Amino acid sequence: MCGIVGYIGQKNTKEILLEGLKELEYRGYDSAGIAVLSDGVFSSFKATGKLINLEEKTKDFTTDKFAVGIGHTRWATHGKPTELNAHPHVGENSYIVHNGIIENYAELKKALIDDGVTFLSQTDTEVIVHQFEKNLKDADDAFSAFKKTIAELEGAYAVLLVTKAENNKIFFAKHGSPMLVGINAQDEKYFASSDTPLIGHCTDVNYFEDGDYGYVSHGDILIFNKNNQQKQPHFVKLSANKLSAQKDGYCFFMEKEIYEQSNIIADTLLGRVTEKEIIFEELDTKLFEGINEIKLCACGTSYHAALTASYIFERYSKIKTSVEIASEFRYREPIMTKDTLFVAISQSGETADTLETLKMAKEASLKTLVICNVDNSSMVRLADATILMRAGVEKGVASTKAFATQVTVFWMLSLYLAKLKNSLTQEEIVHQLELLRAIPTSVKVENSMHERIKRLSKRYLHGHGFFFIGRDIFFPLALEGALKLKEISYLHAEGYPSGEMKHGPIALADPELFTIALLPEHLLYEKSKSNIEELSARDSTICAISPIAFEKADDFIQTKKQKDYMLEFFEIMVVVQLLSFEISMRLGNDVDMPRNLAKSVTVE
Ligand code: M6R
Repeated sequence: MCGIVGYIGQKNTKEILLEGLKELEYRGYDSAGIAVLSDGVFSSFKATGKLINLEEKTKDFTTDKFAVGIGHTRWATHGKPTELNAHPHVGENSYIVHNGIIENYAELKKALIDDGVTFLSQTDTEVIVHQFEKNLKDADDAFSAFKKTIAELEGAYAVLLVTKAENNKIFFAKHGSPMLVGINAQDEKYFASSDTPLIGHCTDVNYFEDGDYGYVSHGDILIFNKNNQQKQPHFVKLSANKLSAQKDGYCFFMEKEIYEQSNIIADTLLGRVTEKEIIFEELDTKLFEGINEIKLCACGTSYHAALTASYIFERYSKIKTSVEIASEFRYREPIMTKDTLFVAISQSGETADTLETLKMAKEASLKTLVICNVDNSSMVRLADATILMRAGVEKGVASTKAFATQVTVFWMLSLYLAKLKNSLTQEEIVHQLELLRAIPTSVKVENSMHERIKRLSKRYLHGHGFFFIGRDIFFPLALEGALKLKEISYLHAEGYPSGEMKHGPIALADPELFTIALLPEHLLYEKSKSNIEELSARDSTICAISPIAFEKADDFIQTKKQKDYMLEFFEIMVVVQLLSFEISMRLGNDVDMPRNLAKSVTVE
């Protein structure tokens, strides 16, 4: 998704902007650009494709004195990924970068065209800079013109604007898309749409709230809130841990992230699992008072984790649970009752659709909880309570360790609720706690297992489709396996409940239909086996993943014997992640940055 950086200071502005954009690369983009204003002169560069193209274009350009600069990676929404559509967008004397979508851009554009303005791009963003320049003609100063412009925008945005009219400032506004400003002892100011570009440069950061706008100059940070009242910046310390974001010798972040799941899950469990109970210091039991239902809401992989949770919440905590896809929930005028705990699940905490549903829940006065990986993200700041997943920075666009930690948190939460609601005996809880502690072992990648998957993967590079099938919680895992494969291999894959295949999809069965069958020992084994046999009888090519040898399968990936189906879930999760990874590697794809995808989807 789009990324924003900005800088005011004496250093080489170009290098700082490019370095910042590099940190945002993993979010997915199709073009990039920068604009630097120094000594009243603008220099601007744009390029389609990877950042290396922009680096090439800017190789002879340097700034060695005070300058203000803005940069952007664009993920196309309005208009194709061309150089003209890349940001920054230019007016007569100003440049702008923008994340989000301006919903009323068409009417603003029409009025500007009627005034004689010529547009260079097809983007919604370009209207902002022209509208600003139009307002500047009648305004006392650039800030008044900027303020007026922002008030005229509808939609979601994070915006940085630089103008010759006041050439030592960066004007900013935030509404619905994340943005922060960072400072350091050298009196430099950095902007970005997420923490990572600021790590190593800034000691403290201020996260802008929705409705914030203002400007930053060498000496000042002036912030106004949505009611036009000036407010003080609220600085918090920025963590300095960049190490975790490196590849540690793996070819791709995704592989590294699959391998580190064992350590990561140990972190997720740390201090939360005792001999007798689950402790969430971040939760107040009052959050659950008067609650009769849990509603889980998320997108993509986080949605699959939520679906998994719905099984174990009902099974262990005996609490009615429903699951919603955020983009659907937003517009279907849902009935929300106050005895429902609304739980948003998001790795990034910035996904626009999920964030919006959280706002809806708050407006309906529901109690809210967020399961999130990014502290200080928009969702964390909005919710009544948060459980952090502690997965560390996830760089691969295809989510792996985030999913693993989400399911871990949900398993813990189901036991925490079971204790509160007395729905499991103490003995059962103690047994579950023992199992929980075994997750890190169950997700350890054995060399022999990885080698087996690597070898098998060459047989699955074609075909007319994949069906990942499973029952109970292995159905959401099947959905997740299919999503992983689609995302990074570009092969068509579906996740399906095993027992549902006979109600239609079995018509597709032939040797070129690949069935990836999730067959745990401890959950509905016989039922699942019969469903797989039905497909085998119709000549579908079957790859079974199970601890028990299965002679009807064409290929077989043998997992370890586990004590419980939850531990089988985690081990099989690793197998499907590795299978997608190896297929994608063999196809020569960019595993970490698959085409058309963005890490953090901040538009609806
Ligand atoms: O940051 P979030 O968890 O809210 O993101 C939700 C989805 O966009 C995300 O899970 C997406 O489906 C991933 N690419 C899955 O690998």
